[in-house]
Amino acid sequence: MESVPNIVRIAHCIFTVRDLQASRYFYVDLLGLNILHETPTALYLRGVEDREWTLKLEQVSTSTEPTARQIGYKVWSDDELLKIESLARRQGLDYRWETEKDRPKLLRVQDPFGFPLAFYFQSVKHPWLLQDFHLHRGPAIHRVDHCNIFTPKLQDALDWYRNALGFRLTEYSADAEGKIAAAWTTRRGSVHDLAFTGARGPRLHHFAFYMPEASRIFQTCDILAGARMEKHIERGPGRHGITNAFFLYLRDPDGHRIELFTSDYYAGDPDLEPIRWSLDDARRQQLWGGIAPKSWFTEGSAVEAFDGSVVPQHDSELPLPAYIR
Ligand SMILES: [Fe+2]
Repeated sequence: MESVPNIVRIAHCIFTVRDLQASRYFYVDLLGLNILHETPTALYLRGVEDREWTLKLEQVSTSTEPTARQIGYKVWSDDELLKIESLARRQGLDYRWETEKDRPKLLRVQDPFGFPLAFYFQSVKHPWLLQDFHLHRGPAIHRVDHCNIFTPKLQDALDWYRNALGFRLTEYSADAEGKIAAAWTTRRGSVHDLAFTGARGPRLHHFAFYMPEASRIFQTCDILAGARMEKHIERGPGRHGITNAFFLYLRDPDGHRIELFTSDYYAGDPDLEPIRWSLDDARRQQLWGGIAPKSWFTEGSAVEAFDGSVVPQHDSELPLPAYIR
């Protein structure tokens, strides 16, 4: 029996964008992400704590639907990539070997639910900027934290990621019959590297960065307001019940959703008992009460198919929460 590949953590996301300069203004000038590499059609960005690039923005034509092109994970060694290649072959998943900037050996796999995954071990390391405080700008986003995906096949997807890729469940929400509506899973011992939301998909709900202090999240709001870009603030600031984290959700110029996130908790023990939340408990989403906007439940980024097209989406049998209809 093949062993489960050892995934270290979430590592990157690639977004396609229709106006690279508008994206640069949003992510670099306002949010303080740092440019590691720049080409006429792409930006490779990182937070001040990241030693590798964590967000790539790729220019596409203005008539093209922006997508999440890749969700990337770092693995423990090149041998782990071979385990994932074997898994893809056994399960009949589309896969190929690619190279990326700084990453000479990247395994691109389309998961059984349509999500565009990429796995790598080797990556050029760059000196971090953590203590180069004189170079920090704006809220100085720190590092990659997690992603959250919309899938109509939530239970099947959760089972696959747990069994095939070794993700561990930390928290979940369920109805009275035990049907899971959303789930949070980890590899690196934080509350999550990957969260699942039962909804129309496959789509990316959001990609998240860690901030060290809630004050940086307030600062982000002030900066966006000062730039007359307050409409890019979709939800928050607030505190989640699930994860306990302080949060802010933003929409970038192409509508991709990012979250700024801090103050979750250690969840790395292998015998951790997952926390169950009732769908009747509104505190799971916002500990202080308050309702998220409908867009937060219904909108997300399309994801790229293996051939470069957009993966068709399917509705979920799970209903929207009654209070947002
Ligand atoms: Fe999140």
